[in-house]
Amino acid sequence: MAEILLAVSGGIAAYKSLDVLRILQRRGHRVRVAMSRNATRFVGPASFAALSGREVGLRLFGGDDQPGYDHLDLAREADLMLVCPASANTVARLATGFGDGLIPLTFLAFTGPVLVAPAMNTRMLENAATIENITRLAARGIEIIPTATGLLADGDTGAGRLADPVDICDAVDRALASRASLAGVRVLVTAGGTREPIDAVRFVGNRSSGRMAWAIADEARRRGAEVTVVVATVDLTRRGDVRYVDAPTAQTMHEAARDAFETTDVLVMAAAVADYRPSAATDGKIDKSQSESLAIPLERTADILSDLASRRRGQVLIGFAAEHGEAGLARAREKRTRKGVDIVVYNDVSVAGIGFESADNAITLIGPGDRETALARMSKVACAVHILDAIVELRASTPAA
Ligand code: CTP
Repeated sequence: MAEILLAVSGGIAAYKSLDVLRILQRRGHRVRVAMSRNATRFVGPASFAALSGREVGLRLFGGDDQPGYDHLDLAREADLMLVCPASANTVARLATGFGDGLIPLTFLAFTGPVLVAPAMNTRMLENAATIENITRLAARGIEIIPTATGLLADGDTGAGRLADPVDICDAVDRALASRASLAGVRVLVTAGGTREPIDAVRFVGNRSSGRMAWAIADEARRRGAEVTVVVATVDLTRRGDVRYVDAPTAQTMHEAARDAFETTDVLVMAAAVADYRPSAATDGKIDKSQSESLAIPLERTADILSDLASRRRGQVLIGFAAEHGEAGLARAREKRTRKGVDIVVYNDVSVAGIGFESADNAITLIGPGDRETALARMSKVACAVHILDAIVELRASTPAA
């Protein structure tokens, strides 16, 4: 049972939220309703108040008699926020963070999972602005419940109908179950590309942005895990509820990961670790006037993942295989056994627009018994959901972990 905030925005589908409210209650949830001013033109707040048995949130601030911040209270009390229906206008305000009403302001103040069930005319749904807004929300980990196709309010037929209330409530229950799926589990993620010094200002590096690892850390937090991220070089915003350990080189990353590994339950080795480093970094800056050419001797770095796999005591291990071109999948399969990990996340870095430096990826998960799940191209945030689902499934099937 959870405390759900049902945010109803303006649209003819607002009346279907009464059904959503009843189904959620029948499933044991407590529901508090907040309505936008436009929503009240379609359904009276008294209907929601009667069914929920609670006062409906309608204003931003408390009244003169009892001043307060209603949006902050609503956000604080809920375990999950469901925006249903979400009009094109509300979707736009959520996507841009423009807090000019109770729903967008509450959304800004809310830190738990948010589900958005849009409902609007097909042409509005298919407008480039709406597509961009929905994509932006989904990329931030907000679940968009797809609209249904059928007869619309103005007599048109097409996509844009509010999803079936039962399907919406199923999505809420799935989100709540997944939220608790890693409660208290210690997850260690390595992120970004290492930089191996050539001299005081130059290094051998790679193109990893750390976005995939960041998305995994976000998703693990969302599911209740205690997350530590060992960071090589990543230029992304850090969260307040994740522990970060900076480790810019392969060697410092190895030491940091080894220290944290003993007290971890799951390791996701997403960092792009250099396989070679300059044998000796020059003090100061190499002076180019000294020579027309320069050869830098390189030496192998230790394979962190293989080393940790040899020390494992029940931890679940996830490795990555960024392979180039044909036969990559076979190499990734082989890497899983050779490195002794449970799941290898394979992607083909020769495909344009995915992998390094991009927001999207197209991954194949290779699990125990070489079980393979090939996923279509999607945002790294969505990939992270699949990777964490696979981890949860694996932990459930290996109780010793
Ligand atoms: N990895 C590691 N330590 C290294 C290099 C890689 O722990 N010195 C990890 C990566 O973080 C990744 C996995 O190993 O999870 C595969 O990395 P990749 O670069 O694809 O493979 P290589 O180790 O270079 O593969 P190979 O052994 O086939 O050269």
